[in-house]
Amino acid sequence: MPHLDHYLAIQAFVIVLLFSSIASAAIVEHVFHVTNVLVKPLCKEQMIPTVNGSLPGPTINVREGDTLVVHVINNSTYNITIHWHGVFQLKSSWMDGANMITQCPIEPSYNFTYRFDIIGQEGTLLWHAHVVNLRATLHGALIIRPRSTHLYPFPKPYKEVLLIFEQWWNMDVGLLSIQPAPISDAYLINGLAGDLYPCSKNRMYKLKVVQGKTYLLRIMNAALNKHLFFKIANHNVTVVAVDAVYTTPYVSDVMMLTPGQSVDALLTADQAIGMYYMYIKSYNSADQVSPFPPNTTTRGLIVYEGATSSSSSPAAIPLMPEMNDQTTAHRFSSNITSLVGGPHWTPVPRHVDETMFVTVGFGFDKPSGEVDGSLNNYTFVLPKTVPLQEAYFYNITGVYTDDFPNQPPLRFDYANFEPRTDYENMMMYPERKTSVKTLGFNTTVEIVVQNTKIVTKESHPMHLHGFNFYVLGYGFGNYDPTRDARTLNLVNPQMRNTVAVPSLGWVVLRFIANNPGVWMFHCHMDAHLPFGMITAFIVLNGPTPETSLQPPPSNLPQCSRIYQPPTTNVDLSY
Ligand code: C2O
Ligand code: CU
Repeated sequence: MPHLDHYLAIQAFVIVLLFSSIASAAIVEHVFHVTNVLVKPLCKEQMIPTVNGSLPGPTINVREGDTLVVHVINNSTYNITIHWHGVFQLKSSWMDGANMITQCPIEPSYNFTYRFDIIGQEGTLLWHAHVVNLRATLHGALIIRPRSTHLYPFPKPYKEVLLIFEQWWNMDVGLLSIQPAPISDAYLINGLAGDLYPCSKNRMYKLKVVQGKTYLLRIMNAALNKHLFFKIANHNVTVVAVDAVYTTPYVSDVMMLTPGQSVDALLTADQAIGMYYMYIKSYNSADQVSPFPPNTTTRGLIVYEGATSSSSSPAAIPLMPEMNDQTTAHRFSSNITSLVGGPHWTPVPRHVDETMFVTVGFGFDKPSGEVDGSLNNYTFVLPKTVPLQEAYFYNITGVYTDDFPNQPPLRFDYANFEPRTDYENMMMYPERKTSVKTLGFNTTVEIVVQNTKIVTKESHPMHLHGFNFYVLGYGFGNYDPTRDARTLNLVNPQMRNTVAVPSLGWVVLRFIANNPGVWMFHCHMDAHLPFGMITAFIVLNGPTPETSLQPPPSNLPQCSRIYQPPTTNVDLSY
């Protein structure tokens, strides 16, 4: 992992405790120092918050069954939380790190220790700050390997390679809370912009490979607001996991990842000794409403052992999909299936207890005319003083309403209507409130997420905290229960924590609400969070203490602290 100019020592250490019953369970302990540092990925020095001075932040390696302990010491000037994206947090909902949902933020000069078990999932996930925009620089990988007694359900790779895709702005990231977020200036691969950008010519990600060997690529899209295509010249890859769930091996020459998604894929160095570029490029599922910067691609280089820059031909360049190539994006997203019978696979529950139909899109706030996000015509407002889960746990009234509906208030032609004067009848004006949906413990929930054409059309990557869902189907147009229900995959559907709801289309999700607590369900385009494209599920307690939400840890951050800004030389004058 490349480190920044002002690198601070990573104080990470691992304590391994051998339990008599589980041979490999360990406690993995890290310290995250969050500090503002100066970096210069392109031409200008910028002050950004980082974890331990590096971009991307430190990689956490655990084995399934381990306990992870992360001490977060906030020496930055920002309020932060750290969210463990995709981790089930079974019985540890207070550790989810969702700002004002499960905790108040960790204020500058305060600390908080996250502690939770990682059980029943293997693969690559990411951790990131969960306070608007800060995840742009506060993110990193969480790699969950099988317990030592188990193996990967695919041939053991020669080496493992981490590829973190990021978005970069020539400005102080803290200022990005200005809406709408400006267009980014570059993408980064593992913190490097590569040779297509000014002042970055010699800072390109390079992967050395040995001909004939197979590598496990652990890929994640940590960009704030961009779906990304990824492709390697002359090579296919074989997808073996998505969002830390094993898949049926799926061969592809190109990938598409939404913000928050991860893919594990095998790459065999089966081409002639030489050099091959890997490219990332934005996938624009939306109407093109804004100009794009000249460089919308970033590249890294795969160098075969024995290849020399002077020898033979120049490095091969992949032929990338067009920026709006919905067919390619949809093919990759929807064709992946789960590895039935593989580690941690559980069959799809056939009985559904709770059926929801949720429209996702935009609208306008009637009084102000501002753009609002909309889920079933509600715009979610984050609680200001008490986190939702504390309000729920302590029965504090007035923080939220338990009235998120199972259907939108109106039915209309969501995907195909032509804009006209009739907006009022098409849920043009969502209501701003903190509306949640309560689910009984262990109920099976099915959600049809229906994208609408109100204001824009684009793919929203919907992310559920605390659970993986089965993705039973993807489609375009309006979901038709008679026609489309028959086509759903109940045998080997992919499981994910983040799904690309196609532009003007739908997905069908199913999950079992077996984890008590309060869980966000939201669009993972960071820019859509302040628009309130969010709701939350309260999963009620089960019958036993074991299946009940426990009291919060005593050191959970509080919102009422008097905050004195530390005297650092942070330059906010951009
Ligand atoms: Cu990766 Cu609620 O987020
Ligand atoms: Cu969105």
